[in-house]
Formats: sequence, structure tokens, C-alpha cells
Amino acid sequence: MADEPIPLAKPVLGQAEERAVIDVLRSGQLSLGPKLGEFEALFAERIGAPYASAVSSGTAGLHLALRAAGVQAGDEVITSPFSFVASANAILYCDATPVFADIDPVTLNLDPAAAEAAITPRTKAILPVHIFGYPADMPAFERIAGEHGLALVEDACEALGARHADGAPVGGRRNPAVFGFYANKQLTTGEGGMVTLADAKLKQQIDSERNQGRAPDMDWLDHDRLGFNYRLSELACALGIAQLDRLDEMLTQRASVAGSYRDALGAIDGVQLPCPDAGGDERGWFVFVVQLPAGADRGEVIRALAAHGIQSKPYLPAIHLMSFYRERTSRGEGRYPICERVAERSLALPFFPEMSEQQVQRVAACLSDALERGAAPRAAGAARARSGGMAAS
Ligand SMILES: Cc1ncc(COP(=O)(O)O)c(C=O)c1O
Repeated sequence: MADEPIPLAKPVLGQAEERAVIDVLRSGQLSLGPKLGEFEALFAERIGAPYASAVSSGTAGLHLALRAAGVQAGDEVITSPFSFVASANAILYCDATPVFADIDPVTLNLDPAAAEAAITPRTKAILPVHIFGYPADMPAFERIAGEHGLALVEDACEALGARHADGAPVGGRRNPAVFGFYANKQLTTGEGGMVTLADAKLKQQIDSERNQGRAPDMDWLDHDRLGFNYRLSELACALGIAQLDRLDEMLTQRASVAGSYRDALGAIDGVQLPCPDAGGDERGWFVFVVQLPAGADRGEVIRALAAHGIQSKPYLPAIHLMSFYRERTSRGEGRYPICERVAERSLALPFFPEMSEQQVQRVAACLSDALERGAAPRAAGAARARSGGMAAS
């Protein structure tokens, strides 16, 4: 019998979400209605931020947050090369230049010392990313930003549920912080995002720019600045409200799956697990990314897992080595060696709140098997033969 597929990610959606969306459909108001303000208020409260602005995606939120921070054409913004490409793209949307700096080898977040060394007279802002839900060292970045007169915008797209050592939720430190609600995130609205803020004027600017530059009092067709269509629909906001209700439960489930992985993978030689919480910082579990032993053939591991119906993904590739960025920045290999070493070996395994212990065990056994076989070309063939099926990739 073929192995039951194990996807990389899977949202938890139940009757509450169905009811919430149907209620909006029946109300007839599908955008710019009451769910928008309700979702924003509940989210801000959850993060402990004075304000929140809902937007159509995390990427849109990053674009508007950078604009609100004053980033303009010709500016430089220092950020991590080990992130989803959207964090660097949003800087380019502002006609500014992303300047990468290397990462910390343990947390995999932007290294504050490397970021400080990258400051030039053109630097306008720093954009730390809370990668894989682990809190970036915001106290250090706040000190650096204060000393050099720079703005800070936090990419918290992967970090809902994470906390800093002082107990503050990520996104609640008064810097504009951006969350993402794509389908694999801790909370999903299908597509969507949220910017948390401490400044009423910045909220006004973001609310206007997400709606084509319309005046906040919604005077009909008075567009007093350049804007975009980055609105989040009422359907998505209703979904978000329903997801917020079950967020604590989903975060607990994610942490429990991570614990099972830790136990199951701990004994596999050379596989490096995500760093444990340290110094009081707490990860908001988003993905479970391991680093394979040096020299392992990652492509073959992926094929061997796929032969057993298990999805996995090289995650994340280094942004500065992507062809678009290579051409743009003319910076090739060797420039950010820690990021490159990590990116070469990183593999995201299936990870979602309702993942069972048995599924975790299956992933661990297949991974161990693939590595024992040296993850050489033979491994995929052998795995296919054992499962009697075709590789999924
Ligand atoms: C670190 C990071 N930044 C930005 C984004 C962009 O978010 P979205 O896909 O909602 O535009 C993501 C989403 O995957 C992300 O992981």
C-alpha cells in the first residue's frame, strides 16, 4: 500500500472559519466593512501594540512600513540575506538598495555587529527578519538604530507567537513590525498581512496608502497621495478573527510537534536541529528546518523522502545568490559565508499543528534511512523500489 502523503504545511480550518466567512458573504459587505477594524483591534491587543493595519500580504505590509519609515529612492536598507525574498524585494519597491549583512550561526538572524559594520552615510533603516519565528536581537538593533539615527522595521512574517526575553511579544516593541498570513503561517487568511505600530500618524499613512492614497475619512475620491491597492477583504478579516480565537491552541500544537521532532531526530548523526530557546527569547514555531550533515546530497534526500510521499524543501536559499540579485548587486559566492553555509544545508520538513506523532516518526525514519544510505543517487532508487511507487518530484 502506498504511503499516505505528508504535506509540508497544512492550515487548521474548522466550522468557526466556515461560519465567519459565510456570515460575511451573507452581509453583502465584502471589503472595507466592520471586520477590518475588528481584526486590527484584536490583533493589536494580542501583540500589545497601540495600532495595527491590515493589508493584503506580508510583502505589501513591508512595502508600506518601509515607506512609513521614510525609506526613499537612493537610500540603503540593511537586511538579512537569509530570508524569504520578499524582505529584500520590498526595499527595491522603494527604489532603495538592500544591503545584506551576514547572520548569526546559531539563531540564523541578522547579526547586529555585521549590520552595524554595513552602515554607510546612505543607510536609512535596518530591516531585521525574525527568521523561522526566532526573535531577532531587537535590543541590539534598537541601540544601533538610536546611535546612528536609523529607522527600524521588523519583518515578523514568520514570527507570530514569538516573545522577546522581556516577555514582549515580537511586534510589540513599538517599531513598525509586519506579519504575514499566507496559508502556511501560524495564522492564515489565505493571503494577508498586518503591520503593528506605535504611532497614530504612521497608521494613518499606511491606512491611506493601502487604499490608493485615499484620505482616512474616506471622502469620496479625495486621493491626497500616491497609494496602492493593498486592502484586505472582509472575508479574509473574518477568517483572521476566527483564527485568532484558536491561535493559542495552534501555537501549542506546533510547539509540541517541534518537541516530537527534537526527540525523533536528536539521534541522527550530523543533523543540526533548530536552536533551542535561549536567554529568555521564545520562538513562535513556524517551520521545522534542519541542517543536513556537511556533504550530504540534499537533492537525493528530498527525492528519497518524496518517494515515501513526504514533502520537503530546500529552505531558505540565500537571497544574494538568486539570479536576479546576483545581477543587480554583482555579489557572488563568499560574500556572506555563514548565510551561504546554512542555506546550502537547510531542509524544511513537514510541519503543521495537527501533525501526528506517527507522522513525525515516519519523517524521522525516512530521513535517517536516506542519510544512512549516504543520500547518494542509489538512495532514491532504493526508496522507490521499497515503496513500490513513483517519486512525487
Ligand atoms: C520572512 C518573510 N518575509 C516576508 C514574507 C512575505 O509575506 P507574504 O507571502 O504574505 O507576502 C514571508 C512569507 O512567506 C516571509 O516568510
